[in-house]
Amino acid sequence: MELNKFSRTLTQEVTNPAAKAMLYGIGLTTEDMQKAQIGIASTGYEGNTCNMHLNGLSVHVKKGVQENGMVGLIFHTIGVSDGMTNGNDGMSYSLPSRDLIADSIEDVVGAQWYDGVIAVVGCDKNMPGAMMALARLNRPGMLVYGGTIKTGEYKGKKLDIVSAFEALGQKYAGTISDEDYEGIIKNAIPGAGACGGMYTANTMASSMEAMGLTLPNSSSYPATHEGKKAECVAIGAAMKVLLEKNICARDIMTRKSFENAMTMVIAMGGSTNAVLHYLAIARAAEIEFTLKDIQDISDRTPLIADLKPSGKYYMEDMLAIGGVPAVMKYLLQEGLFYGDCMTVTGKTIAENLADVPNLDFDAQKIIVPISSPLKASGHLQILYGNLATEGAVAKITGKEGERFEGFAKVCEREEEVMEFLAKGEIKAGMVIVIRNEGPKGGPGMPEMLKPTSAIMGAGFANSVAMITDGRFSGGTHGFVVGHITPEAQDGGNIALVKDGDLITIDAVNNIIQMHVSEEELAERRKLWKPIESPFKQGVLRKYIKNVSSASLGCVTDL
Ligand code: FES
Repeated sequence: MELNKFSRTLTQEVTNPAAKAMLYGIGLTTEDMQKAQIGIASTGYEGNTCNMHLNGLSVHVKKGVQENGMVGLIFHTIGVSDGMTNGNDGMSYSLPSRDLIADSIEDVVGAQWYDGVIAVVGCDKNMPGAMMALARLNRPGMLVYGGTIKTGEYKGKKLDIVSAFEALGQKYAGTISDEDYEGIIKNAIPGAGACGGMYTANTMASSMEAMGLTLPNSSSYPATHEGKKAECVAIGAAMKVLLEKNICARDIMTRKSFENAMTMVIAMGGSTNAVLHYLAIARAAEIEFTLKDIQDISDRTPLIADLKPSGKYYMEDMLAIGGVPAVMKYLLQEGLFYGDCMTVTGKTIAENLADVPNLDFDAQKIIVPISSPLKASGHLQILYGNLATEGAVAKITGKEGERFEGFAKVCEREEEVMEFLAKGEIKAGMVIVIRNEGPKGGPGMPEMLKPTSAIMGAGFANSVAMITDGRFSGGTHGFVVGHITPEAQDGGNIALVKDGDLITIDAVNNIIQMHVSEEELAERRKLWKPIESPFKQGVLRKYIKNVSSASLGCVTDL
């Protein structure tokens, strides 16, 4: 089947009589029947702050589409909030939601023969999900980011979602009063917008802008900023240009633009989840893009943004210094960015950036010069060794050091970290091994934000390392290695680690190794068997059956 079979034109006439009758039924006019139809995929839903405002933004998008002579038709897809699910069983549903979102947008746009698609997105999984759908459909398409949240405040201290988890660690450590704990929880999240540091949502937003899939500054306008509404209305004119010039998603999603996106992730100190997502998005776009490519980009790209979680500033601070376009311009000037990539404005990256002011390194401290970076090479490092023969992803900003050696403390599940922490069994110098949390074993490769934040809050920021076949949240900081592949459920050596085994993590030479002989591992393997999954039906059963490894992006359509 040829997905891209529909003519992408501003005068696409509806000829199917039943479809025409239905379109009259929803209120379209005879004149409307001659117009291009644009599917507007809103990932909005009540129930969490990242997505609560997206349905409202979609209405502004529709207005802009209609004003530019097209028919805008809003539809919806599902959403899962990592902020709501971190640390509980619901987390298993989060990563699968990315692929459900991709499938559902592909399904609606494919079935309803929309000429173009605009996705209004605002949380960790709906961005990569929508990008995968755009890549598969390969029609004129673009994204609008819902925007970052404002910081919360309690007793003069700025707060965000991670503050809530770290307060829990302080509670375990007995270093915070009940009143202050409640004060932080009540004030950390002041309203609409995605989690405010360079966590996964802002990582994906700034990198999809770098890829050319949003209007300039989409990732910089906070959710409640006036500029966000104006951007939504302006989308219609941009979509018209894409249709007129017949610019489709894969004209924008090229090998070079994937490199631009990942360069932005690394320069900004973005989330490990971006590795997983860009592997999957590249597959959807049928572009060769592997862990090795990501390592190559990390090797040549310095970390230059002092943003949370490891840095000082929040995404809401970026707009005042010129936003993501100013960073793109700087990277372009330094030869780290491709300027000839097409974007949704119908112009190239270089053309879009021509009038953008340069970063002022005297007036702002969020982005530092490449000549004196926070880390000379990228914070995302791909590690290999007997613990991860097919790769693992480390997030090492340099603040934690670049090498850690310690004795294993095995946690069969994420929950055991919290139990051991509460019992005082976590000690400085340990490598905490959290297993059975991979794509199949978790299932859904849960994020370990609760244990990592609690460990930080308990004062072990620089004295323990954590490794897992699960994922880490974009909000995680500390010496962490995730995405260990093969996962425990597939019989990876992480399944064979015992308490007290010596483990070396070397982010300079990209090694993750347990110091246990091959003979001993073979003996341990004889006693090992995979855990029996409790999921016998439904979406998680389907996911376990279909999901690929983390090193292949956890895609479900291989
Ligand atoms: Fe949605 Fe953080 S949970 S952006």
